[in-house]
Amino acid sequence: MTHTITISSLGHKGEGIALIEDKRVFVPLALPGETVVISAEGERGTLIDIVEPSPERVEPFCPYFGACGGCQIQHLGPELYRAFTIGLVENPLRQAGLDASVSRFIDAAGAGRRRATLHARKDAAGYMRLRSHDLLDIEACPILVPALARAPDIARAIGGAIGDCDVSFTASDAGIDVAVRNARKGIKGEKLIALAARLPVTRLSFDGQMMFQRQTPNITMGRAQVEIPIGSFLQATAQAEAALADYVVTAVGKAKLVADLFCGMGPFALRLAEKSPVFAVDSDKAALQAMDKAARHAKGLKAITSRARDLFRDPMTQFEFNFDVVVLDPPRAGALAQVREIALSKVRKVVMIACDPASFARDAAILVKAGFAMRDLVAVDQFAFSTHIEVAATFER
Ligand SMILES: C[S@@+](CC[C@H](N)C(=O)[O-])C[C@H]1O[C@@H](n2cnc3c(N)ncnc32)[C@H](O)[C@@H]1O
Repeated sequence: MTHTITISSLGHKGEGIALIEDKRVFVPLALPGETVVISAEGERGTLIDIVEPSPERVEPFCPYFGACGGCQIQHLGPELYRAFTIGLVENPLRQAGLDASVSRFIDAAGAGRRRATLHARKDAAGYMRLRSHDLLDIEACPILVPALARAPDIARAIGGAIGDCDVSFTASDAGIDVAVRNARKGIKGEKLIALAARLPVTRLSFDGQMMFQRQTPNITMGRAQVEIPIGSFLQATAQAEAALADYVVTAVGKAKLVADLFCGMGPFALRLAEKSPVFAVDSDKAALQAMDKAARHAKGLKAITSRARDLFRDPMTQFEFNFDVVVLDPPRAGALAQVREIALSKVRKVVMIACDPASFARDAAILVKAGFAMRDLVAVDQFAFSTHIEVAATFER
């Protein structure tokens, strides 16, 4: 059944919301204020025609936009884009009872994403189609850094050799690092060794095992060169890593000893150590080893003491916090157990980074309840044109 209707607002997945008989219908690609023709099945709406477009509508720059599920908001003009993205940060905080406003919006798209995962089949490679589990075969993805221009071709070649799989790309300083996962059972990674030698890649791994390497992929972090372990975390854009590290270093200021929890391969620790000794914790042992090696070879850094620890199951207790400042950058799930201990401790300053505004809001509310004031709330737009956003804030008491 079709309806001609005016879109009332944008949902948090970037879909236009239409009210039909007081029920919300979500319409991808439609904007607030637009009069549109849609079909609706339950709460799933499909845009058929735009009768009156919004003045905020812009032409998407990618020919796959609308079909591809990778980007959701290329059709938003700059003002609406910014307001929507800031809302992604502020709305969960308000729902958690914190009246906070984003003080800075940092465009961190830079030259594009240096990390991406494509899906591959025997004869296709790309991203899943919008609202679907079907693969969209693509020739190019304009949100990637130029160094990953051939990522779809490489993924297609790998899919051609082994069939269905996920192919993750990282553009390192030494070339393209490729990690193949989720192939069908029984497929052997050795099948990819000869192919890798013909591809423009510096390393290829299969299910976490190295199959081929020309040079160890590495990345510059402050004064250090870090060799990237297979499967370790890296921020999606170089600009976001730099912006977040800059935020952390400035917010920490002068400190006798800093804790960097969920430190990964050390983008913050390696820069903080230019001024202060750092105690760095993560559950990823390979990432810690890479950070330690990089720190040993970098000139003029203060000591970085690293510990492997599962901070979900075994958070640092309130009695272990003899640090001036604690930096936290947990995965999407947030840092509930760890934040509860910090709330009970004598720590006076916390700098928290997060990629999930909802878990960030939950954890921030715990700190605020424990007497911290939240300030300098920043939105770092590294997943540009998607509905993901990075958050940073400083908490003091
Ligand atoms: C968002 S990343 C941040 C890493 C680093 N700060 C950066 O900017 O590259 C989250 C980190 O949390 C680590 N992690 C995930 N679960 C963990 C756990 N249960 N305990 C400790 N670290 C964990 C991951 O290994 C990853 O390095």
